[in-house]
Amino acid sequence: MRILVVGSGGREHALIWKIAQSKLTEKIFCAPGNGGISQQAECVDIKAEDIPGLLEFARKEKIDLTVVGPEGPLRGGIADAFNNYGLSIFGPDKKAAQLEASKIFAKELMAKYGVPTADFKVFDNADAAKRYIESKGAPCVVKADGLAQGKGVIVAKNVDEAKAAVTSIMQEKAFGEAGNRIIVEECLRGEEASIIVLTDSREVVPLASSQDHKRIFDGDEGPNTGGMGAYSPAPAVTGAVFKEILEKIVYRAIDGLSKEGINYKGALYAGVMLTKEGPKALEFNARFGDPETQAIVPRYKTDLLEAMLAVSGQNLRKVVKAGGLKWDSRACVSVVCASGGYPGKYEKGKEISGLEEVAKMQDVVVFHAGTKKSQVTGHRSQVKYLTSGGRVLGVTGLGNTIAAAIETVYRAVEKIHFEGMQYRRDIGAKASGARPS
Ligand code: AMP
Ligand code: GLY
Repeated sequence: MRILVVGSGGREHALIWKIAQSKLTEKIFCAPGNGGISQQAECVDIKAEDIPGLLEFARKEKIDLTVVGPEGPLRGGIADAFNNYGLSIFGPDKKAAQLEASKIFAKELMAKYGVPTADFKVFDNADAAKRYIESKGAPCVVKADGLAQGKGVIVAKNVDEAKAAVTSIMQEKAFGEAGNRIIVEECLRGEEASIIVLTDSREVVPLASSQDHKRIFDGDEGPNTGGMGAYSPAPAVTGAVFKEILEKIVYRAIDGLSKEGINYKGALYAGVMLTKEGPKALEFNARFGDPETQAIVPRYKTDLLEAMLAVSGQNLRKVVKAGGLKWDSRACVSVVCASGGYPGKYEKGKEISGLEEVAKMQDVVVFHAGTKKSQVTGHRSQVKYLTSGGRVLGVTGLGNTIAAAIETVYRAVEKIHFEGMQYRRDIGAKASGARPS
């Protein structure tokens, strides 16, 4: 089969690495892709948001399945456009993608269908929001309704901070239209975990649990990033907790959507807080997580492409009947190597060394995010990779325990170098000592 993957990050590289192992795969294209992705796929110069361009390419190249990585094109209606032309696509349509694109849509759905989540109130007026914050007190959480590249959520320690967030989002329009309406919600406490499932709206098959690390510095200090590393499984998600998350959060959300006339097809990501009263939903994403996918995929033993085709063809029951997805019992840890200065300003074009040495290591795989290939024509040995983004690599290792995976992955990270490279030294530390379940 001819596959097109849309996106250019570590998540897309992990998906492509796995899809390339399927016996069904003939050729993979990636739009726009990155340096490392070009090892397994032909990168085509079409932006992930260019829906007409992607549609034209898929028709011309007779693509059998298009797999969408990031949220932008999903919100833009890529699945609707492909469905109109009878082209198979993995990813929810525009209505279903509202679950991520509008936090208010998601919270109202949760309230209506009994999904446990933080208490909340919606505002379209800044003064009213500020009065409410004063009456409720802090801590509290202020969220822009729309997509804000992961920056639209402010966990405020005091009332002044919360009111400043309202001013920034609603009055100064820090995220443009995405901040026309906001949510003010109760601050939950506990450990976080990510549960990603594949669903065709009738059946649900969960992937292994995972957890990411959003802050830039060790010990969860410093500003939020796109994610600095992840591990799978998340030991805090025991069998009983997993079941509760599926029953109370995932199934209720998917069934709720169906009752609203929306059939969700694709990967559904639930960000969960494990509170004393049980798991509560923090957010939904309409896609695979990044960097969680990089820690999940190496543990995935069955054919991912087959499962994706079943989702897109609404025939996931077949996969369930055949025994569902199979997982490697080992743990996996993925550490992001980022450019110096990220998530603020950073330089690009730095040569990456050590990749060839790491490629020889057992139980290690490197997923590329912000890299570019530089090749001297005719000289294969002269392939070089240069940095081209904030998050550059997801160095990923497997081990019998999380502690063993941590040891393996950091041995690999230490072999890699580029000017200014920074990474967290505590990825997975919180969970180590616990054996994967
Ligand atoms: P979200 O995009 O809604 O998941 O928010 C991003 C991050 O903000 C989450 O991963 C949590 O760390 C934090 N967060 C969001 N909502 C809450 C909440 N109600 N209580 C505490 N932390 C929260
Ligand atoms: N790791 C968080 C996300 O993918 O949104």
